[in-house]
Amino acid sequence: DSNAMWGGRFSEGPTAIMREINASIPFDKRLWQQDIAGSKAHLKMLVSRNIITAEDGQKILEGLDKIAAEYAEKGVPEDWSLEDIHMVTEKRLADLIGSAAGRLHTARSRNDQVATDFKLWVRDAIDMVDKGLTALQMALVIRAEEHAATVMPGFTHLQIAQPITLGHHLMAYYEMISRDRSRFSDGRKRLNQSPLGAAALAGTGFNIDRHQTAKALGFDAPTANSLDSVSDRDFALDYLMSATQTAIHLSRLAEEIIIWASQPYGFVSLPDAYSTGSSIMPQKRNPDAAELVRGHSGRIAGCMNALVMTMKGLPLAYSKDMQDDKPPVFEAHDLLSLAIAAMTGMIETLTFIPEKMRKTAEAGFSTATDLADWLVRQAGIPFREAHHITGSAVRLAETKGIALDALSIEDLKAIDPRIDESVKAVLSVDASVASRNSYGGTAPDQVRARILDAKKTLGLN
Ligand code: ARG
Repeated sequence: DSNAMWGGRFSEGPTAIMREINASIPFDKRLWQQDIAGSKAHLKMLVSRNIITAEDGQKILEGLDKIAAEYAEKGVPEDWSLEDIHMVTEKRLADLIGSAAGRLHTARSRNDQVATDFKLWVRDAIDMVDKGLTALQMALVIRAEEHAATVMPGFTHLQIAQPITLGHHLMAYYEMISRDRSRFSDGRKRLNQSPLGAAALAGTGFNIDRHQTAKALGFDAPTANSLDSVSDRDFALDYLMSATQTAIHLSRLAEEIIIWASQPYGFVSLPDAYSTGSSIMPQKRNPDAAELVRGHSGRIAGCMNALVMTMKGLPLAYSKDMQDDKPPVFEAHDLLSLAIAAMTGMIETLTFIPEKMRKTAEAGFSTATDLADWLVRQAGIPFREAHHITGSAVRLAETKGIALDALSIEDLKAIDPRIDESVKAVLSVDASVASRNSYGGTAPDQVRARILDAKKTLGLN
């Protein structure tokens, strides 16, 4: 019975391959709870509209509860010939309660069913991610508070620029994560309309109540256009884009941890719990968790790209390509959840090494701008000229192998006679950070004020 044109190389005919490419049950079984919840809401609405009898409704309800208990206990059976979670469940319902099972699918299609299930799943995923990101923010705030006045070098071009406080640096990531959370929550608001009742694509002739099912499933309203309802995957893309943006932030922080843990920097040491050794080099202590957070971020962006590519050419309404929407979302969610948890753990347990940070800031002439600013303010020198004078001071300190504030007043006067004793007060890294007291600046007072705001937002004390 294999095809006359190409059947020679098939032992079973094309059906085995068709079954395999068509089956989504290996991954969409993950939607089983949402599928049962959607079915129950639909069922109750059908009964209340007298589309099916209360008696059949009761049978179906008990059947669905039994199936849910079975899935919870033993997992969802993977029958490829039944394709997907919707058909596996419907078939099981028929086995359990007989022909009444066939009434559940009245005024419904798998197209609106899967859109509903997937929205419910993504909504839960957003809530989980928000919890994880909140925990990460708390960890950042706690460590920032410990280090509100810890001086470290701030970088531009990864070259030492100006001294900053470690608390300020950590709070920068707090801000990024705040935006990530708001991005996810925007997506959550936007997705919260129920596609259920859009049926295959055109709506249904049955007298259904879409408002009732929307409400029962926690949606704000039913969707307004049946075609859009079954072909919209914006919510999944919103999720993936938010996940990608979050992953970028996690990856940048991971990159910094990796750099900081490297011996020439030595700004942090990672706890054993988040490091690994080498099988050949006994001295090694590798920042694998941070590297994998950085690595995962690339895969998350890849998941986003996968769904963009899937969706971009699809005509209205449903096409089977859309079955491919779930694996990238599931994968991205799993990777992101793990990355957030690993980053939270690392932030909580990192040992910062303030002496090394301070030394590096001093050795890098990070207060050069403060000297130039002093020349402008105290000696009335134009900034460009001050910049030049300061450059000579840096060159001298570099030649002598000392910090800028270790230059003697005679040395400084030799460079420019307008310099006097009072310059010493601005050349230390502590004076430098304390002076940057503009709103949102790195001064410990500013950092502490922002930490207080953050704690209020997070509901901490
Ligand atoms: N398993 C399918 C999916 O995930 C369900 C919808 C199937 N609809 C259809 N017309 N074949 O997209």
